Amino acid sequence: MSLEDVLTWVEQGSAEAALARQIDFDRLPTHVAVIMDGNGRWAAQRGLPRVQGHRAGIDSVRDVVEASARVGVQVLTLYAFSIENWKRPPGEIATLMTLLKYYLRQELRRLLDNNIRFKVVGRGDELTSDVRDELAFATRQTETNTGMQFNIALNYGGRAEIVDAARGAMDAGVRPDELDEDRFADFLYTAGQPDPDLLIRTSGEMRVSNFLLWQIAYAEIWVTETLWPDFRCRHLFEALHAYQKRERRYGGITRPVVAG
Ligand code: FPP
Repeated sequence: MSLEDVLTWVEQGSAEAALARQIDFDRLPTHVAVIMDGNGRWAAQRGLPRVQGHRAGIDSVRDVVEASARVGVQVLTLYAFSIENWKRPPGEIATLMTLLKYYLRQELRRLLDNNIRFKVVGRGDELTSDVRDELAFATRQTETNTGMQFNIALNYGGRAEIVDAARGAMDAGVRPDELDEDRFADFLYTAGQPDPDLLIRTSGEMRVSNFLLWQIAYAEIWVTETLWPDFRCRHLFEALHAYQKRERRYGGITRPVVAG
């Protein structure tokens, strides 16, 4: 995607357009992962029940998924529900699952139009059958798409994923002397996908919250005070711009994100 292409769909004279001019679209992070946080605080600030924050967060999901696909991010992973989130009140959990089903039903057409391939990362088999059916349908419908890989982390835990991968390797009969980091990664939920280059967290918290623990080993972390329901394409562009100013060293010598 070139700047000229991006300027055809962002509003002229907008903050997005100004930021787009500062981004090198040939050097985007390949994989962007997002911890969507602050829905509850967004609702509390407005005197609304927490679930209204999750409901409003759907608009941010829609905007960020579409913008990421359009600029040419290859993989986007959104953290929607952690294994620890089962500790929340049953009503909030039920709303989150309903919102997820609603989102998939409403957005499937748009995912197809944008050539997006959808996948769940997490212990999907522990979800209720109605949610599993909806997820399986969206996965099947989009599986031949060739554009952005869109992962939703659902009933996800980073440590659980590593345990599941270890079990998977043992079940596959991998011998200890055959096991190295690359072979192990073949048993993660994200097998075959590049690791995140950029991890975004909204609402100002400085934590990784058991998200993609193996995969974020070398990710650049960008935290914004913006609460998830207020997060839009403009904030994604801010993150991409900030990412391109980082120096990535991978424990060695300087490797600038943008050469020159
Ligand atoms: C964190 O905010 C957010 C979540 C636990 C859920 C995120 C879910 C959505 C945005 C809606 C459904 C998702 C998809 C992909 C369709 P919080 O409740 O922890 O906020 P707080 O820290 O302010 O309390």
